[in-house]
Amino acid sequence: MFNWRKAIIGGVMAIAALGVSMSSALAAAPQNAAVVYYTLLHNRLEGDENGIGKTQRVAMEIAKQTNSQLFEIKNVDKYPAAYGDTTDQARDELDQKVVLPMAEPVDVSAYKDIYIGMPCWWSSYPRVFASFFQSQDFSGKNIYVFVTHGGSRYGRIINDMKEAMPGANVVPLLEMYDSDAEDYDDAEMTEAVQEALGKL
Ligand SMILES: Cc1cc2nc3c(=O)[nH]c(=O)nc-3n(C[C@H](O)[C@H](O)[C@H](O)COP(=O)(O)O)c2cc1C
Repeated sequence: MFNWRKAIIGGVMAIAALGVSMSSALAAAPQNAAVVYYTLLHNRLEGDENGIGKTQRVAMEIAKQTNSQLFEIKNVDKYPAAYGDTTDQARDELDQKVVLPMAEPVDVSAYKDIYIGMPCWWSSYPRVFASFFQSQDFSGKNIYVFVTHGGSRYGRIINDMKEAMPGANVVPLLEMYDSDAEDYDDAEMTEAVQEALGKL
């Protein structure tokens, strides 16, 4: 006689096993792309290592929506605690085209699509990016740029990056006011990133 009880239990177990193998397949799936960002909050004296910086907030949302691996670029030496001293120092570094070392190497050579985000500093990128751009070959890669700023939008960043990354396909993705990056609630941030990614 057909045993319904056994058949049902067997069926449930088979479905459970399938679920387990599907979730491990998902866990093992390679991440699509890399998101690399920098934020002042983690790079100044009296900053907050555990706080979420403005550019970091955008980076985390992009990583979430694109299933990307998140990387952070950090300076070796921290900027001063006083904002004005930091802006003065950054201005000098830009004028002198200083190549600032990174605290840790960031290797994204395995990825074809790389999202790179930064605060706009004197209309360009923070000079620690100069050593990141020199540290590997970006030719043939898609570089999607996101910038937070106080009004300059991308400034000269797209052109400066094209110069620093010969052969890369450098594409503007998103520019966001610092006040929005800070004040948007989660739904607004999700929507802003969704809209930008949708235009690619
Ligand atoms: C050194 C320095 C230079 C800046 N230069 C500009 C600028 O040229 N144009 C602009 O709109 N905002 C400028 N800002 C403001 C930042 O781009 C903006 O606040 C950004 O969102 C900060 O991001 P973060 O908190 O993730 O570091 C500058 C900030 C600093 C610290």
